[in-house]
Amino acid sequence: MMMNARERLILALDVSSVAKAETVIGKLGDSVSFYKIGYQLGFAGGLALAQKLSGAGKQVFIDFKLHDIGNTVAKGVESIARLGATFLTVHAYPQTMHAAVDARAGTNLRILAVTVLTSYDDADLAAAGYDFTVADLVAERAAQARDIGVDGVVCSAEEAARIRGIVGTRLALVTPGIRPAGADAGDQKRIMTPAAAIAAGADYLVVGRPIVAAADPRRAAQAIVAEIAQAKT
Ligand code: C5P
Repeated sequence: MMMNARERLILALDVSSVAKAETVIGKLGDSVSFYKIGYQLGFAGGLALAQKLSGAGKQVFIDFKLHDIGNTVAKGVESIARLGATFLTVHAYPQTMHAAVDARAGTNLRILAVTVLTSYDDADLAAAGYDFTVADLVAERAAQARDIGVDGVVCSAEEAARIRGIVGTRLALVTPGIRPAGADAGDQKRIMTPAAAIAAGADYLVVGRPIVAAADPRRAAQAIVAEIAQAKT
C-alpha cells in the first residue's frame, strides 16, 4: 500500500472536550493529518469537530464500533459518511459488516472491522457464550471480513502478520498499542515501536498518549512519522 508516512499516523483524540481537542490539534498543526474520535470525545461534541476537521482537509476515523440490526447500522453509516469521515469501526459480525459495507457504497467512508476486543481472553468469550478461543474467533472473523468486502481490520501489531495471511493485501491493517522506544507503556500490555509495527505489516498506526502527553506533541508526531518513513515494509 503506497502512502506517504504522515498519512499513516492516526492521532487518537482521547480527550474530554472539543476545547481540549482543539488545543491538541492546534499544537500539532500540519504534523498530523489523520485524527481518531472515539466514545469520549464523540459523545462530547466530537462529531461536529469531525465535520470541521474533514472540511479543513484532515482525515477522520470515527471509532464507535457499531453493532445493531442491519437497518440501524446502515442508517448510522450513512450519517457518518456525510460527516466526511474516512474510517469507521464496526464489530465483526457478518450482518453488521454486510450492512455497513453496503451503506458506505458510493461514499469515501471505509469500514474497519474489530474482530475480538483485546480486553477479552478465552474465559471472557466462554462467559459471553462463545465456543471459540480468541485466536480461532479472530481468524474466523478476519476471514468473514475479507469475504464480505470490509475495507480493513483493527488489530495489534503482534497479530498483523497472521491477519495479513488471512485477509490478503486488499484490506488495510490498523494497529494501536504503539510506543516509540523509551515511551511509557501506560496500560498497554503488548506494544511495538512504529518501525516494528510497519515491518510487521501495519498500514496505519493509531497513537494517543505518546504524542498527546509529550512535552512537545508536534515534535513527537514528527519523530514517529520519520520512523514510519524509514521502516522496512
Ligand atoms: O494512548 P494510546 O496510544 O495507548 O491510545 C491508543 C488508542 O487506540 C486508544 O484510542 C485506544 O482506545 C485504542 N485501542 C487500543 N487497543 C485496542 C483497540 C483500540 O489501544 N485493542
